[in-house]
Amino acid sequence: MIKIHSRLLLTLFAVLISPHTAIAESDTREAISLTESERNLVLTEMRGFLSSIQEITMALSKDDMAQVSKSAKKVGMAEQQGMPKSIREKLPKAFKVLGMKTHKAFDQLALDAREMEDKQQTLEQLGTLMNNCVACHASFKIVQEK
Ligand code: HEC
Repeated sequence: MIKIHSRLLLTLFAVLISPHTAIAESDTREAISLTESERNLVLTEMRGFLSSIQEITMALSKDDMAQVSKSAKKVGMAEQQGMPKSIREKLPKAFKVLGMKTHKAFDQLALDAREMEDKQQTLEQLGTLMNNCVACHASFKIVQEK
């Protein structure tokens, strides 16, 4: 637990102090070992995140807050419940916490977009929740179990 957190902080710190050298040459991300089908499942969920963000951005440009809410809801907590126990047991705690936070943030965005119809607020919420994408991608990678 402490080890994971210090690694996460170190990675974030490295990214912050050296934005240009980045991590292209040395990959310091923590590896998570999954079977091929487990990896496919996680990556499918990831593409769902990206797809929802694309839909939300498009809907915002059209002032269609009902669609914003619908697209955000697709990647909320309800979707997360489909993740099999076998995978959850292999994921580091810090990964699960970040993942959960992200799904919850989409639920909140969906709710607020519907209730308040405030585009500016939605944009801020989207930008803020995407810090989770950035942080997790800087810290973890998935490798295939041998
Ligand atoms: C809890 C950690 C975590 C969070 C949060 C997270 N990701 Fe990921 N994502 C990963 C990991 C790990 C990979 C695989 C990276 C690798 O193995 O190199 C990945 C891969 C992806 C991929 C590539 C999918 C593919 O088919 O290869 C996309 C797209 C993606 N993430 C989008 C997002 C978006 C958008 C968000 C935020 C809304 C997000 N992710 C949030 C951990 C996370």
